[in-house]
Amino acid sequence: MSIHPPTERLWWNEPVARAEKIWITVAFLWGLVMFFMMIYWHVAGKQNLSNEAYRIDPAVYQQRAVDAAVAHTVRDEAGIPVVKPPPGSDIYLIARLWQWWPIFELQKGQDYRLHISSVDWQHGFSLQPVNINLQIHPGYDMVLTVTPDQAGEYGIVCNEFCGIGHHMMVGKMYVVE
Ligand code: CUA
Repeated sequence: MSIHPPTERLWWNEPVARAEKIWITVAFLWGLVMFFMMIYWHVAGKQNLSNEAYRIDPAVYQQRAVDAAVAHTVRDEAGIPVVKPPPGSDIYLIARLWQWWPIFELQKGQDYRLHISSVDWQHGFSLQPVNINLQIHPGYDMVLTVTPDQAGEYGIVCNEFCGIGHHMMVGKMYVVE
């Protein structure tokens, strides 16, 4: 707020210096470049995930995940089942306070349709050490077609603050030869 009224009422109608016009033009063109890069990178960028997502009732999702897990559980790790699903199948990961459920054991070089959803509130799926990040919401089934290309043990970290146990919300995924 100014103390004195403006002396020049048409402040916006002042002549613009040449250098300023050049900068405005450069900034505008760069903005356009960045805008079209978003579209280009969506298609050409290697980091890109599929954009499949479906609405789903959290209770229905949970039931699906449990059914799929029970059928292919091979062992147990600290109360969480380790599930070895058949290659090519749909696999269901649950995000909930404060756990990723179950632990998958996938086979290297095989395709899987990985579903991820939350059954309570928002979580973030971050696969370590690979750079994959997804926001996970209740009511939305995110689907990724994945083909693990390196054997090993992967970590799943929740990267969306979800309350008092957020830092303990770590999961696992195995890829075997
Ligand atoms: Cu789940 Cu943070």
